[in-house]
Amino acid sequence: MIENIFSMAGKVCVITGGSTGLGSYMAQGFLEAGASRVYITARSEDTLVKKAKELSAVAEGECIPIIGDLSSIEGVEALAASLQQKEKHLDVLVNNAGIGTGGPFSELKPETWDMTMDLNLKSPVFLTQKLRDLLSCKATSEDPSRVIFIASVAASYSIEGVLAYSTSKNAVEHVVPTLALALCEENILVNAVSPGRFFSEMTRGAWQDAESERYQAELARIPAHRYGDIKDIAGVAIMLCSRAGSYFTGEVLNLDGGHRLRH
Ligand SMILES: NC(=O)c1ccc[n+]([C@@H]2O[C@H](COP(=O)([O-])OP(=O)(O)OC[C@H]3O[C@@H](n4cnc5c(N)ncnc54)[C@H](OP(=O)(O)O)[C@@H]3O)[C@@H](O)[C@H]2O)c1
Repeated sequence: MIENIFSMAGKVCVITGGSTGLGSYMAQGFLEAGASRVYITARSEDTLVKKAKELSAVAEGECIPIIGDLSSIEGVEALAASLQQKEKHLDVLVNNAGIGTGGPFSELKPETWDMTMDLNLKSPVFLTQKLRDLLSCKATSEDPSRVIFIASVAASYSIEGVLAYSTSKNAVEHVVPTLALALCEENILVNAVSPGRFFSEMTRGAWQDAESERYQAELARIPAHRYGDIKDIAGVAIMLCSRAGSYFTGEVLNLDGGHRLRH
């Protein structure tokens, strides 16, 4: 009975920001779990194309790059149009691309605020809206389509230094149950994962010197005493997008080794 419930066999998936970090980890996981096609998107062509080639070699499914900037509605529309041209339906959308911004409140610029909200909050909402038909056209209540938003443990912070970032991620968590209800009649499930600290380009400055006081202090503070890695995020994403997770909707899954409990 439980033999294949984590299988992604035959699924067509899109992961924004899939060239590095969490997006690339989920892409690898989906392909290893049997996905037919995983589209990954990013701005930097070289890194994206290289990652797509690398991931196409890990399993039978194909990893396909789509270059583009999702910080504007034009970029969102261009990605949706490209997917509409290539596919008749989609099974999975992971709204993962995001930017980490920070600094003291006194130095926060309106353009930084807008850039953070645009990429982390506005674009995922409107990409979901624009891909709604592709996501719903083949979905059934037994085999629903999935949308995953990537929030953050920072959604639970009240820390001045990450005001724009934490507000954008808190809003992402707020949006998820509302969209889950809005899309339930179309058999589209909407959930969020809220990661704690993971190895990625965004956090490289914090972990690349493993002996640094800052990194060691972080590990001491996180109840799991480690950063999250590919198996942690891929495992949860596969669960949410396979038969195993097809009764979850409107949920925010904290994936942080207990990090939020000590903030
Ligand atoms: N790492 C963590 O500890 C952590 C914790 C909590 C939440 N998160 C969230 O996880 C998600 C992934 O972050 P990550 O840590 O994996 O960071 P990452 O390694 O920096 O990856 C970010 C990805 O997004 C793409 N991207 C950035 N700006 C973009 C834009 N304007 N348009 C299109 N693509 C863009 C990047 O490629 P290009 O730069 O080439 O465009 C890259 O593929 C983010 O939403 C982040 O907030 C991460």
